[in-house]
Amino acid sequence: MAKNFDAMEDSNRSANPSIHEVSDPARRRVLGGGLAGAVTALLAPLAAPVQAQGRGSALLGFQSIPVSSADTVAVPPGYRVQVIAAWGEAVGLSGENPAFRFDGGNTAAEQEAQMGMHHDGIHFHRHPLTPDDPSTGLLVMNHEYADDGLLHPDGMATWNAAKVRKAQAAHGVSVIEVERKDGRWDIVRPSPWARRITASTPIAVSGPAAGHRLMQTAADPTGRRVLGTLNNCGSGITPWGTYLTCEENFIFYFRGPQQPSAHEARWGLRPGDPVGYRWHEHDERFDATRHPNEPHRFGWVVEIDPSDASSMPVKRTALGRAAHEGATVAVTRDGRAVVYSGEDARFEYIYKFVSRDRIKPGGAGVSAARANRELLDHGTLYVARFDADGTGRWLPLRHGEGFLIPQMGFADQGEVLIKARQASDALGGTKMDRPEWIDIDKDGWVYCTLTNNSNRGPGAYDTDAANPRGNNTMGHIIRWKERGDFDGERFQWNHFVLAGDPRQAREEARGNVRGDAFACPDGLWTDARGVLWIQTDMSTSAMGRGDLANLGHNAMLAADPRTGEVRRFLTGPAGCEVTGATMSPDGRSMFVNIQHPGESPSERSDPVNPRRISNWPDQRPDGRPRSATVVITKADGGLIGT
Ligand code: FEO
Ligand code: CA
Ligand code: CA
Ligand code: CA
Repeated sequence: MAKNFDAMEDSNRSANPSIHEVSDPARRRVLGGGLAGAVTALLAPLAAPVQAQGRGSALLGFQSIPVSSADTVAVPPGYRVQVIAAWGEAVGLSGENPAFRFDGGNTAAEQEAQMGMHHDGIHFHRHPLTPDDPSTGLLVMNHEYADDGLLHPDGMATWNAAKVRKAQAAHGVSVIEVERKDGRWDIVRPSPWARRITASTPIAVSGPAAGHRLMQTAADPTGRRVLGTLNNCGSGITPWGTYLTCEENFIFYFRGPQQPSAHEARWGLRPGDPVGYRWHEHDERFDATRHPNEPHRFGWVVEIDPSDASSMPVKRTALGRAAHEGATVAVTRDGRAVVYSGEDARFEYIYKFVSRDRIKPGGAGVSAARANRELLDHGTLYVARFDADGTGRWLPLRHGEGFLIPQMGFADQGEVLIKARQASDALGGTKMDRPEWIDIDKDGWVYCTLTNNSNRGPGAYDTDAANPRGNNTMGHIIRWKERGDFDGERFQWNHFVLAGDPRQAREEARGNVRGDAFACPDGLWTDARGVLWIQTDMSTSAMGRGDLANLGHNAMLAADPRTGEVRRFLTGPAGCEVTGATMSPDGRSMFVNIQHPGESPSERSDPVNPRRISNWPDQRPDGRPRSATVVITKADGGLIGT
């Protein structure tokens, strides 16, 4: 039930599309000459730089695979797949090694020592003791949400505090130590780095909103100590060795008042009980009618040091509050950190944060993580505006400037950050088609997946230059290059690709993919060779029908950023999405997360028949589908993608 809360989110009703209404040539064509013609006219010039290049990328050496409807992970000839770290595997805490129970019968305490559900963003962190050894390291990964139909033997037929606690334990982040032996990867148990961070783990708050009156609750009058991190979707890494986990659809865990305030409505808080979750019945902090500030304590980017299992994670409020999909770090030429982040909800925004200070090296017994422990607390947050002429601007969310003043509801910088959506509305940021992951290629282009937006079009917000298709079922990837350096306040932009399927009758669903058809790009990651990996998240309610009829299961594709060629590399099991990718430092083992295999269109599993849609990866007669990490290697031991 929980999964496509992001697709439900549509709370941006601000009236700030003025720039596009007056100057967007695509919009004028729509109004004057019909939608199909407008889309065709728009695609040609934007796609030209990509399409002018030759075919047959030298970067992509593997054989494309077909779409699939099989309950398995398929990869190209010459590649192998191994499954590790499925939901319920013990992470390797000292003295705790609970086995997974296929009947769903593990306790909350056992779940706290096991891999969470619904794997998402992932990173291979070099081993703290042997950083040059590519056969060992730490895998750090997110667990986005829980499917209570799979998590408990009877699903939600009965409900109690122990079930809430188990669901909270299935959320968050895992750190596991892994090593390769005889060609196979395995979890090292026990490991001093093994860790579970859950929806109940104490987490510090730092930056301008720390201690703010809007962050204070009865349980935490300081406003500086939150229990847990929620709905951890995409992730990022910093040059100083930490992991950034991003809180996405946090609002759907909260019970809302019968008449939400304008502020609460802008953040999607709905009257009454949350759809899907029943945490508030046994954990009152999720009842926003009693604790209206508790939702302010989620929606942050959280920094974790995987090399120190005793370190407390930190919510970095300077990066702004949003339904954060991911966080991607670039470095300016003078050594400051720039963090890009999208907010995955319909008509929400793309942000970047520029640090005030330069990144410090570690040394003399001080780790780089420790040397930079305040780096993300000082700097400037911007929202993106994409103009119709192919340029764009970063608009600073700076208290005291323009509309960001007390009379407009922004008492101070903390309130600007807590209400980043309203601040972006006031500044006139561009409302996007659900910004998901962001990454950067070797030429300095920054790419953002815009997964889809079925509400785009007349009646809601119409198309604009950056979001050019009405009823955008297929999604697109936008890219920009900063003017000057990554801290630049102006940029140029174009569309890397409009996803689609040329066999579709509906013009807006065809796209301009050079290579294998795909839809709903979500995960995005550039590897060390420069391959842009694209992961898809077609929702289970739309998969296999309509515009998506020919596309089978969700998949991962590889793109050459310079030629625009796209080639299908992996297809997932039934009902899954493919999300999160990383490699060992030698580029010979790729780790990819398979999330929610077996998800039904209702998005909650039936505990009576959990195997109805998928039984991946175990395929046991008494099994149930489990999110897991797959390791992909080449049979000849070669580099992934060649
Ligand atoms: Fe959690 Fe936007 O995917
Ligand atoms: Ca995602
Ligand atoms: Ca999804
Ligand atoms: Ca998604």
